[in-house]
Amino acid sequence: MRHLLTTKDLSKSDALRILDTATQMAATQEREVRKLPTLRGKTVVNLFFEDSTRTRISFEAAAKRLSADVINFSAKGSSVSKGESLKDTALTLQAMGADAVVVRHWASGAAYQLAHGGWLHGSVLNAGDGTHQHPTQSLLDAFTIRKHLAPGGDLSGFTVAIVGDVLHSRVARSNVYLLTTLGAKVVLVAPPTLVPVGIEPWPCDVVHTLDQALDTYEIDALMMLRVQRERMTGGGFFPSPNEYSRIFGLDGDRLRRLPDHALVMHPGPMNRGLEISAEAADSPRSVIVEQVANGVAVRMAALYLLLAGEEAAQ
Ligand code: CP
Repeated sequence: MRHLLTTKDLSKSDALRILDTATQMAATQEREVRKLPTLRGKTVVNLFFEDSTRTRISFEAAAKRLSADVINFSAKGSSVSKGESLKDTALTLQAMGADAVVVRHWASGAAYQLAHGGWLHGSVLNAGDGTHQHPTQSLLDAFTIRKHLAPGGDLSGFTVAIVGDVLHSRVARSNVYLLTTLGAKVVLVAPPTLVPVGIEPWPCDVVHTLDQALDTYEIDALMMLRVQRERMTGGGFFPSPNEYSRIFGLDGDRLRRLPDHALVMHPGPMNRGLEISAEAADSPRSVIVEQVANGVAVRMAALYLLLAGEEAAQ
């Protein structure tokens, strides 16, 4: 594996290898000295054309804990604002000796273009491209579910419901493919206006109210999606925020209808009071903060497997 661009073509064995390696990385983070020498001499560039808190910081922490040199590049304040293209930005990074480029971009396909454009020699890790894919987010989600519900195993027999703004969600797309590859059943819950056209071949069920999902399925993990208002140009996706919360929001009453072992998840950032209430977000079932912590271990694993070369592939 040279790049990590999408979960759609990730094999079960590759996915489990990343998750198992992340488990080992997480164990190293319990030690007094958390830094490993593994990527000493390698340079990782974080190339962010879109805002991020969790992904950017956790990739930076992951690379530093593996002793890589880290260069953080934000499009804001760079020559991108003078019109510099993705290609010329990539050629500049290559000239500086990037061994890996972690890219977040507003355009779906930007990570693929960067990996296959012939501009970079190193690995490309997709940190979220448009509405397309966010593979490390889904890997940390799978890691979190596995840690709680199936340590060391796959996700066969588990049901994960993903609720809300599926249309604009790269997290939903990445999770549908990764979780089903790992054996889980995935149920998408969204109003028809927030279901992508052409969803029929996706390996998942689709229902149109959260109550219907709670009545129909034994849900093991309930993943609430952020309503991405910044991508809703034109409006009309739902009548009002109150109406959206009434039908798709996770409040205390719906929380109590979940099985006792069920996990409450959210990739963040959350719109508290819209897709999730404070009671649900802060409840003992919520693993939302843990998802962020797990992101560091998963990103350490991804960087290690892509950059440490042949020995990591054994
Ligand atoms: N989940 C996620 O991608 O969060 P950030 O946008 O803060 O990176």
